[in-house]
Amino acid sequence: MKIRKAVFPAAGLGTRFLPVTKAIPKEMLPLVDTPLIQYCVEEAIASGIEDVIIITGRGKTAIEDHFDTSKELEVLLEEKGKTDLLKMVRDISNLVRFSYTRQKEALGLGHAILCAKDLVGEEPFAVFLGDDIIDSKVPAMKQMTEVYKKYRHSVLAVQRVPRENISSYGVIKGTAAGNHLFEVTDLVEKPRPEDAPSDLAVIGRYILTPDVFEYLENTRPGKNGEIQLTDALKAMAGRHPIYALEFEGDRYDAGDKLGFLKATVSLALKRDDLRDEFVEFLKGLKL
Ligand code: G1P
Repeated sequence: MKIRKAVFPAAGLGTRFLPVTKAIPKEMLPLVDTPLIQYCVEEAIASGIEDVIIITGRGKTAIEDHFDTSKELEVLLEEKGKTDLLKMVRDISNLVRFSYTRQKEALGLGHAILCAKDLVGEEPFAVFLGDDIIDSKVPAMKQMTEVYKKYRHSVLAVQRVPRENISSYGVIKGTAAGNHLFEVTDLVEKPRPEDAPSDLAVIGRYILTPDVFEYLENTRPGKNGEIQLTDALKAMAGRHPIYALEFEGDRYDAGDKLGFLKATVSLALKRDDLRDEFVEFLKGLKL
């Protein structure tokens, strides 16, 4: 079955990015001029997704407004003859079909995904964590859907991470199953470096079979008292095969200040309208 639906957990409070996230959803922070969540929605569309399900919370209405039509703005741009901007604004609201549901309490990533159970139904689906921005020739999720097509089981995105940073991630233990591909035998959420089963960290892209909901329903609060997706996947791994793909691409943790800066600079350098002057500016910095 084709992966048609994607779940975007977006109810988090963004505490790593205070004070800006006090009144602005972190998903709306811009890399150059485009909100983080739009990069991920564009990756989803380029990977064949038709339905985007956003799990929101209090104070997140800017996300809904962003993907909605904006008549006032469109009329203004039309009157001023700014056709390029008008097209851009219209294209954003026509990207794909959106639905929204709320996670009333911040009970963790696993709980957020469970909130999408009815909207997803009985079909495999993608999950995008908006902090992870992946710049790649072939969209990361597309690379994963290719694996799904072949095996018809859940697929996690993984990347090798230095030991000293491993405790920020879910970490897999796996056996080699092909080119950059592993079959997952165990998972641990945010282990201490000495306890990590490997250096393969889970990055925020998942393809999950609907069995995951049953495991999520039976998952008790884990690390930080939250219902962890990693714990549900660990329970599932014994019964349903789970694959992990070391995808090709540059990944930025845009939910972290330094990662956000790196992503901003790298993406700005790829923009024809900014590159030359920006390079001149960077060269002139006394580092
Ligand atoms: C979440 C997951 C973790 C995963 C990470 C990827 O953690 O719980 O397993 O490795 O995303 O970015 P968070 O970064 O939300 O703390």
